[in-house]
Amino acid sequence: MRREKKAVIIHVIGQNEKNIPELLSRRDFSTLPPDKGIMRIDIITVHPELIKSPFEHSILKRAIAKGIVEVNLVNLRDYAFNKHKSVDDYAFGGGAGMVMMIEPIANCIEDLKSKVTYDEVIYMSPDGELLDQPMANTLSLKKNLILLCGHYKGVDERVREHFITREISIGNYVLSGGELAAAVVCDSIIRLIPGVLSDETSALTDSFQDNLLAPPVYSRPAEFRGWKVPEILMSGHEEKIRQWRFEESVKRTKERRPNMQSPD
Ligand code: ADE
Repeated sequence: MRREKKAVIIHVIGQNEKNIPELLSRRDFSTLPPDKGIMRIDIITVHPELIKSPFEHSILKRAIAKGIVEVNLVNLRDYAFNKHKSVDDYAFGGGAGMVMMIEPIANCIEDLKSKVTYDEVIYMSPDGELLDQPMANTLSLKKNLILLCGHYKGVDERVREHFITREISIGNYVLSGGELAAAVVCDSIIRLIPGVLSDETSALTDSFQDNLLAPPVYSRPAEFRGWKVPEILMSGHEEKIRQWRFEESVKRTKERRPNMQSPD
């Protein structure tokens, strides 16, 4: 069964994230589409409406409709313990800004965990590990994830100590909340799940897979205002086109990401 197969992949690649593009490329796409509900992502948020839209369009919408991924928006206020449905309070020690309280978050995570076993409980935070393609590859092979979106001054530190297994940042800047960051993480991982993209190899040739930026691409017309498409792309010579694309990728990577490691 596909789920068992997936668990084996998780076990193997857990050792070394660098091997993942190679393992992804060795996936057996002939058995697609996968079983329903192959991956489940539960997003804990105080603003479910804010994060809904990215899942209602394009590739993410299709992945959900095909049953390849299930995304649940979990309203943290449903787990608030007082009649005002408060989820935040003043910081001990004073200072500006409210803190997300531990009790609603603990109630929420424990309720979810009573029904499902999660691979990771992720907190979206500017302090977290920076999201990159190897991390997206790793997460795309997991089965069940919780993403907790922070707000205000962040969550009570005890949440991070006792419930969170991983913290992810999408960049060195501060957003108003974790929702947009969670949507970015979801997009980057869902598109990698087999069966989500119609051309199964296209995610593997994206920028950053194999530490190379993608080469330039062109479409019709072959000439526009005197601006021509490189001849080689219309030659029909597959090997030469492959070589040209590789060289363009290397050139672009050197120019735009000089610090990126070259492919082994
Ligand atoms: N929450 C606020 N800023 C964030 C960031 N840069 N990444 C992830 N979550 C965040």
